[in-house]
Amino acid sequence: MAGVEPGPGGGVIRFGRSELRITVTVNGAVFWGWDGAGPEPSYALAGSCPEPDPRAVLEPDKDGGWRVVAERVTVVVSRHGAVQVCTPGGVTLRHDLPPRWWEPVGGGTARWLQRSEVAADARFFGLGGRASGPRLRSGSYRLWNTDPGRAFGPEVDPLYLTMPVQLVVADAGTHLVFHDSTWDGTVVLREGEEGAGSGHDRAGRCELRMDGGPLRCWVIVGTPARVLATWASLTGVPALPPAWALGHHHARWGFGSEQEVRRVVAGYQERDLPLDAVHLDIDHYDGDQVFTVDQERFPKLPVLAEELRRDGIRLVSIVDPAVKAAPGNAVYDGGSARDAFVRDGSGREVRGVVWAGESVFPDFTRARVREWWGGLYAERLAQGFAGFWHDMNEPTSFSAFGEPTLPRSARHDLEGRGGDHREAHNVYALCMARAGYEGLRELAPEERPFVFSRSGWAGMQRYGGTWSGDVATGWPGLRASLSLVLGLGLCGVPYSGPDVGGFDGSPSPELYLRWFQLGAYLPLFRTHAGLRAGRREPWEFGAEVLEHARVALLERRRLLPYWVTLAYLARRTGAPYVRPVWWGSPEDRALRGCEDAFLLGDALLVAPVLDPGVKRRAVQLPRGRWYDTVTEEAYEGPGQVYVNAPLSRIPVLARAGAVIPVRGADGEVELEVWAPARGRTGGGLVVPDAGDGGDGPETERYVARRQGRSVVVTREREGGSAQPPYPVRVRGLG
Ligand code: NOJ
Repeated sequence: MAGVEPGPGGGVIRFGRSELRITVTVNGAVFWGWDGAGPEPSYALAGSCPEPDPRAVLEPDKDGGWRVVAERVTVVVSRHGAVQVCTPGGVTLRHDLPPRWWEPVGGGTARWLQRSEVAADARFFGLGGRASGPRLRSGSYRLWNTDPGRAFGPEVDPLYLTMPVQLVVADAGTHLVFHDSTWDGTVVLREGEEGAGSGHDRAGRCELRMDGGPLRCWVIVGTPARVLATWASLTGVPALPPAWALGHHHARWGFGSEQEVRRVVAGYQERDLPLDAVHLDIDHYDGDQVFTVDQERFPKLPVLAEELRRDGIRLVSIVDPAVKAAPGNAVYDGGSARDAFVRDGSGREVRGVVWAGESVFPDFTRARVREWWGGLYAERLAQGFAGFWHDMNEPTSFSAFGEPTLPRSARHDLEGRGGDHREAHNVYALCMARAGYEGLRELAPEERPFVFSRSGWAGMQRYGGTWSGDVATGWPGLRASLSLVLGLGLCGVPYSGPDVGGFDGSPSPELYLRWFQLGAYLPLFRTHAGLRAGRREPWEFGAEVLEHARVALLERRRLLPYWVTLAYLARRTGAPYVRPVWWGSPEDRALRGCEDAFLLGDALLVAPVLDPGVKRRAVQLPRGRWYDTVTEEAYEGPGQVYVNAPLSRIPVLARAGAVIPVRGADGEVELEVWAPARGRTGGGLVVPDAGDGGDGPETERYVARRQGRSVVVTREREGGSAQPPYPVRVRGLG
């Protein structure tokens, strides 16, 4: 070690040939960067890097090492450059060995390798949207946003949305680690194994190889809730979807005409099935070109949009980034005039092939291109669209570049720094989301933009959500759907959901129904399928499925005030709506191993059916009493119980004491309160919807107390408690 230089929040430690800068920031996160790598510039950070925590100090450690001691974490650096992240009690959460670099012979950016160890009992989650999770088992995971080119199941990796964010959960504590490099990389995970008394523990291992970019990382330590809150403070709070986006959406690639859209909508209405949004895919474009409309088949889109809106249904438009490279195409001409498209090293526009044929790609890493693109949504708003579905933005090109994307040599602005596609690829969709979101904010400031995007990267929640892409129709695809939503939520992207029914082929009635029932409890609840796939309308699968799907739709609508509350809470606290069952008790190993159930907010535990023929299933419960929300039967956790899962419903359990805002029969908010166990209290939060523009009113806090045979609910405010302003319905008193 060649010296140290203490600074605010930590300092710089110099080694023979490299140096390490460590900073603890005021939000409790730890940053470290090698060889001059600082936290900025970064596509992940929401703004500038948080201030250093002046209380965190660099001090000598044993054996010639150094440590930074902060309130929630101690970081120990050995004299060889190994970095250990420890709890304040001194237990190691993560041990990073000194990294290795390879400087390319002809200069340019170095590749690097970081090996880390975690506890033998640790479990890995995250890395963006992964189909084989939510627990990421031993194996290799690539960090390169990719359209797999076919409907995917759990075996396909990578998918559209990767990010170098891991959540690691162990007995000793939970931490998030984020390697802030946008380059292509691979993470090889090996779960540890405990010696079980007879042998040594084998630590969990993580090996991260990156093709370039700064060697820098953030670590956040704490409970899962605290970790996600800090992550949101670093990378931005999630955009708030409009309330309608928390309802039911119906999409199809290939409606083909306004008449067909009307027919499907009428199908919902005749059967009294709630419907909140209809999504138009590329087949409504003129010649598959973005920001156009096929005037023959969709001659009066604004009229259709207005009619639907009167019935409470919004139109959502797909938006693809590729622009047909044809003079005369207004988007192409406008973009060319502004030099908006990605060029190669010799200055020629890079061409790919997407739906419309030979195409060029806006360089969203340039501010003025984002601004131009954001302005194009005016055409969509004029057509009556209220929401935007970004697709093909990994970016995908079908041409034979060797990979289904742009050549790595393609040049990008990268906010004026200049670079190539190796660095820009993974943030292409993030920057497109920013363009759309910011454009919409300008164009329609009174509305909350609704943008969801197939691809993305760390921080994309600032602009909107995502969906799970072309998940394969089949039971494994159903399971993968849940894996994606859970994993993305733990990476800070709380709003997502699958194509209910799967993207390709035709699901059996049972599979469709089970998917529908799961989808009804995921943030984006959308039926969708590909061009040649079978129908996904709930009435296409027989009378029995229709009746059960209706129950799921009505329950989704009844829970809308709870969904709205969860959306606000995600924005205010960073907590995803859909959480793993271990969220409140990560030390419970049985819960950590549970991948087939989830918590929806604090109040509900949803246990979907993920296999055929199942009519009863095991559910691993967190501690406390849980009620089956249909039978009101009470179960005691922690532990495993068996609950009925007839075709008519998936088990949904409510936590004793929970106070849940629901829509009453008259459409007004009511509080559904689940009786606390004797001698216990419970509670819940409510954020009433503030309409489209605002950021919402204050969070209302309720407490539920058991008093003999009855339950008393009060609203808690600074001045004391008061009667709730809503009707209260108590359940579970037996
Ligand atoms: C690929 C998307 O994943 C899918 O949802 C969409 O239907 C097709 N592109 C056509 O736009």
